[in-house]
Amino acid sequence: MSSYVTRKTPGDTSWFTHDRFGMFIHFGLYAMPARHEWVKTNEKISEEHYDLYFKHFNPDLYDPKEWAKQAKAAGMKYVVMTTKHHEGFCLFDSKYTDYKSTNTPCGKDLIREYVDAFRAEGLHIGFYYSLIDWHHPDFPIDVLHPRRDDADALELNQGRDMQKYAEYMRNQVTELLTNYGKIDVLWFDFSYDGRDGEGPCSWMKGKGKEDWEAEKLLATARSLQPDIIIDNRTDIEQDLWTPEQYQPTGWITHKETGELVTWEACQTFSGSWGYYRDEQTWKTPEMLLRMLINTVSCGGNLLMNVGPTSRGYLDYRAEEALKVYADWMKYNSRSIYGCTMAEPEFTAPADCRYTQSEDGSRLYLHLFAYPFAHLCLPGLAGKVEYVQFLHDGSEILFTEGAIDHFSAQDEEKKNDDLILYLPPVKPHSLVPVIELFLK
Ligand code: GLC
Repeated sequence: MSSYVTRKTPGDTSWFTHDRFGMFIHFGLYAMPARHEWVKTNEKISEEHYDLYFKHFNPDLYDPKEWAKQAKAAGMKYVVMTTKHHEGFCLFDSKYTDYKSTNTPCGKDLIREYVDAFRAEGLHIGFYYSLIDWHHPDFPIDVLHPRRDDADALELNQGRDMQKYAEYMRNQVTELLTNYGKIDVLWFDFSYDGRDGEGPCSWMKGKGKEDWEAEKLLATARSLQPDIIIDNRTDIEQDLWTPEQYQPTGWITHKETGELVTWEACQTFSGSWGYYRDEQTWKTPEMLLRMLINTVSCGGNLLMNVGPTSRGYLDYRAEEALKVYADWMKYNSRSIYGCTMAEPEFTAPADCRYTQSEDGSRLYLHLFAYPFAHLCLPGLAGKVEYVQFLHDGSEILFTEGAIDHFSAQDEEKKNDDLILYLPPVKPHSLVPVIELFLK
């Protein structure tokens, strides 16, 4: 059994830490300008202009069944989709607002179709819900708000009532957790307490748990779906730590107690969450695979994002990126599902990453660079029963101690090495995986 023990979570994370790999979906009106999901505030777009997106929103090719098929093929076991992003637009038929997909030319509850489609493919279902809301009339203007630099910002801010907005969130979370069956993940986003305005803007206040009335909000969610996994971004610790847009290099620990925590890195294929037509920083296939492997090798999950086009389909770049995972996971998912950080006694050689099955019986060695002829695995002599490539189940021969009499190894020092004999030609896999069955 793995010796790593993580901090207890209020929700049920057992399926989550087994499944390791999920799909994030950012969809909303911002897919139309196609210049980042923050476009409204980045460009301080007027309400009048932003209304054009609402008026013309029509994802006529919206087909979450197709997305779900691709997610499943990519090896993703759960999914988290935006029900409302910072722009405030709701993709579900909420009683508490008119600013929703059913009132656009689209005319549909997009969340209903999403839930049905992904559930039918057997994925666990998650909802992203933005705490920030740049449309709601009671959401106070602050330094992130699109109206922050308007000449009449202070006037516009008069009478905005955060308590009413907090109640609105509770009502919507109640709808989301009541009307769509079992929901496995709730992903709130995000708090920025202390990021207040300066000088003439000092009336603008950042927002955190007090503002969201986070305790009540969380209690509402838990009362409806007790096992649900909730992230920490309300500013109150729950189940999930969520590093974003950087790659942790070790297991994330609790700041005060030092305990290992349940964590999930969220990442993008290119530099934006929402569909961004002209963005060019698409990650290479190797990098995509390394991100997944690195994450699991540090005991975490990866939530990889797609931003569908405003017509509702995944563009060719997103499809190609998903296909990278599909091709690799088809043969190598055993080194991901049910796996975690290898026991501390195992140190991977240069350019390699280990994962280990939860029951401790198998080690998986991922080769980021393919070595010539031999690979020495320190500390494994006498501990391994059988070795094979994971992708084709072909045997890999090995010896212990030293390579042979031609080698210039210091035999005294190296005698706890396990030495693998590798074929000269790298297998037809971007990241080959070697499966070691421990004694
Ligand atoms: C950030 C961004 C947001 C994105 C999220 C995903 O906090 O505000 O646009 O939805 O990260 O993690």
